Amino acid sequence: MPRRNLRRTLWPPMSSNALYTDLSPYYDLMCADIDYRAQSHSVRRLHQLFGNQGRRHLDLACGTGPHVRHFLDFGYRSAGLDINQPMLDIAQLRCPEAQFSRQDMAGFLVGEPLDLITCFLYSIHYNAGLEQLQACLASVHGALEDNGVLCFNAVDKRQIDNRSFVRHTVEHEGSHFTFGSGWYYSGKGEQQALRLSIEKTTAGVTQAWQDEHSMVALGFTELLQLLQPHFEVQVFEHDYERITPWGGTSGNALFVCVKR
Ligand SMILES: C[S@@+](CC[C@H](N)C(=O)[O-])C[C@H]1O[C@@H](n2cnc3c(N)ncnc32)[C@H](O)[C@@H]1O
Repeated sequence: MPRRNLRRTLWPPMSSNALYTDLSPYYDLMCADIDYRAQSHSVRRLHQLFGNQGRRHLDLACGTGPHVRHFLDFGYRSAGLDINQPMLDIAQLRCPEAQFSRQDMAGFLVGEPLDLITCFLYSIHYNAGLEQLQACLASVHGALEDNGVLCFNAVDKRQIDNRSFVRHTVEHEGSHFTFGSGWYYSGKGEQQALRLSIEKTTAGVTQAWQDEHSMVALGFTELLQLLQPHFEVQVFEHDYERITPWGGTSGNALFVCVKR
């Protein structure tokens, strides 16, 4: 469909996390290309290989709950945690039988020991700094049953390519959406940013939003140093189709951490 940008409005910078609050109804459209089933299935296999065979699951930074939905359908007793209530409201509609709690993953409490804790889509980086990331790992450790598993994906700050910005388009209810996302790392320090852009064109009128999310930045060597005192750690290539040990070069990886 041809785009007619008759009028274009650049919204003033909103709160830095507009996508998870005011714009939360667009979140699932932004993620329309993600194969949530494949991700959930792959992590279920990793849990079967390395875990304790239990079925109590918590998804950290669960967003609108797509992974929780799949784990429930796999037979897990799955729950979700997120800091933004608008995301949890959508998650609860998607998973009426699950419990969701609004908490900061940098220090959270659970009602019972868990067998699997997941954190998808690089959300572990939403811990604001190294101190919060350490506190999050301590909370995870405290929440897990013996031999319970933490599984998450991460990006190595040293391999971030600031020029890479991925875009995709979606048609939805008479509107044309263009979503963009990319990492930014200045080259020093403990902070990186996730830069997001959203454009919505309806009847020739375009609205545009820019989000910039500040996140913790670290290298995989430092990350392993944080994890290894508390967990037996396996690192895999960032591939949800096959389980391949990390070759040591790619800047994205899947971490499977079994509670010591
Ligand atoms: C990129 S989304 C990922 C959502 C979901 N895991 C997925 O894969 O679609 C990141 C999520 O992290 C949540 N979040 C950000 N900071 C958080 C924090 N400190 N504690 C818990 N959740 C947080 C946001 O509200 C948002 O829902």
